[in-house]
Amino acid sequence: MRAHGANVARRRARFKPPVRRRANLPARLWPADPLATTIRPNNEVPAMTKSPSVLPVTVLPVTLGGLRVAITGAASGIGRVMADSFRAAGAQPFICDVDEAALARSGHAGLLADAARSSEMERFIDAALAALGGLDVLVNNAGIAGPTAPIEEIVPEALERVLAIDLKAMFHCARRAVPALRAAGGGSIINLSSAAGRFGFALRSPYAAAKWGVVGLTKTLAIELGPAGIRVNAILPGAVAGPRIEAVIAAKAKAAGISIAEQTARQLAAASLRAFVTAEDIANTALFLASPFGAAISGQAIAVDGDLQYMI
Ligand SMILES: NC(=O)c1ccc[n+]([C@@H]2O[C@H](COP(=O)([O-])OP(=O)(O)OC[C@H]3O[C@@H](n4cnc5c(N)ncnc54)[C@H](O)[C@@H]3O)[C@@H](O)[C@H]2O)c1
Repeated sequence: MRAHGANVARRRARFKPPVRRRANLPARLWPADPLATTIRPNNEVPAMTKSPSVLPVTVLPVTLGGLRVAITGAASGIGRVMADSFRAAGAQPFICDVDEAALARSGHAGLLADAARSSEMERFIDAALAALGGLDVLVNNAGIAGPTAPIEEIVPEALERVLAIDLKAMFHCARRAVPALRAAGGGSIINLSSAAGRFGFALRSPYAAAKWGVVGLTKTLAIELGPAGIRVNAILPGAVAGPRIEAVIAAKAKAAGISIAEQTARQLAAASLRAFVTAEDIANTALFLASPFGAAISGQAIAVDGDLQYMI
């Protein structure tokens, strides 16, 4: 017990807390130095010619040696950062994606598989089990934005596609993975929902319906699988800094006839922390949930969004 206490004290002494300061965005340090602190400007209303305000982040210093992790849609975006993060923590990621070139560039083991098709999700889980020799963590990440339009203008096929990729794929992967997680003596399922899974989101009815569905699926599976030691949680990201949010802001600014800086300010005003989040913030939450430090957490819908108060 005393030795454990000393180890914790040593680890704490080594851990450097993140620093908040006003500065220009430095070169991204991730993932070359997994313990590096990335410092970004905050509490400013930035012009998009400058870097947007984002929260400072330190990569979570957890060790996940040998953890076998399957992640959908992980050749780029948040999924890629999660795969890199798990690997940096010592885990073994196995990924799938529909983008063959990005899959090859990612450097992760995995295969081409479309989340829109149940058979391909089952094939992905089977391949992950064969490659990793079992499974400890399933991250259901693949998701598409779907149409932005009033409901009368959304064709049923568009709704079906969003539900297939953003919700049903999570069901199919979990269904196929659960026997392996049981065989491993327990594990963790992490589903990517969205702030659109906690607020209504006008003009995005298929996406919001799917992301609320993810929360319902998460809470239900947590109850079903808890006795087997399988924890199931959802992460609800807010606006994630990067090219995607920059494009969204530019389009909204154009539609509203205002400047990009003004639209950025509106977007930031929706979050109490007046900041965007980063893919690394999302990845760190996934690492925490998959680690022994998340051992008591299941059935939760965890917002990682700077405390959004409304959708914009
Ligand atoms: N980026 C954000 O601001 C944000 C906010 C809230 C929630 N989310 C959720 O987080 C998850 C990841 O988002 P992201 O921004 O990284 O997405 P993204 O659009 O960057 O895509 C990530 C990856 O998924 C792959 N993909 C797309 N369709 C696929 C399919 N049918 N089958 C397999 N792979 C497919 C893409 O090729 C890409 O490599 C999604 O579920 C998304 O809804 C994102």
